[in-house]
Amino acid sequence: MAGAAVPRHPARGVARQQPPDHRGGGRTWWCTRSGSAPGAERVVGFVTAVSDGVLAAYLPLLEVLPEFQGQGIGSELVRRMLDLLGGLYMVDVVTDPDVVPFYERFGMVPGTALMLRRRDLLR
Ligand SMILES: CC(C)(COP(=O)(O)OP(=O)(O)OC[C@H]1O[C@@H](n2cnc3c(N)ncnc32)[C@H](O)[C@@H]1OP(=O)(O)O)[C@@H](O)C(=O)NCCC(=O)NCCS
Repeated sequence: MAGAAVPRHPARGVARQQPPDHRGGGRTWWCTRSGSAPGAERVVGFVTAVSDGVLAAYLPLLEVLPEFQGQGIGSELVRRMLDLLGGLYMVDVVTDPDVVPFYERFGMVPGTALMLRRRDLLR
């Protein structure tokens, strides 16, 4: 993955990385790392997006390690991702009901989703 510039969030030590083709076609991803020495850093949370680069994007994954939750990392990741996707008409998320209030904080509204999960491919 491309990772030339890794800006650090001044307050929370959140770093981000994004590939040059982040607006469409491929994947968009951010990761956060803690620690001061480059070799000691580890990913503590990430968010991903896929987009057609024109109208629509979908956020398949948002995860923050349990011991780092409640520190604003998830919110910062979503904010940065929505900023990145700001020119797109629609950004969709499918999530569990208990996480709906988290996403509502960013102006998202509940809707109806249909899903296909090929769990056999994960074995
Ligand atoms: C959901 C998740 C990403 C939130 O990350 P986080 O770093 O803990 O969130 P933040 O610290 O930015 O929380 C911001 C606010 O949202 C609230 N919040 C966090 N998780 C929430 C949830 N599941 N439901 C409702 N509110 C939630 C926090 O209480 C906090 O509120 P406050 O500002 O009033 O204190 C994290 O809990 C997680 O990784 N959960 C497991 C995986 C998951 O459910 N991912 C989403 C699937 S798409």
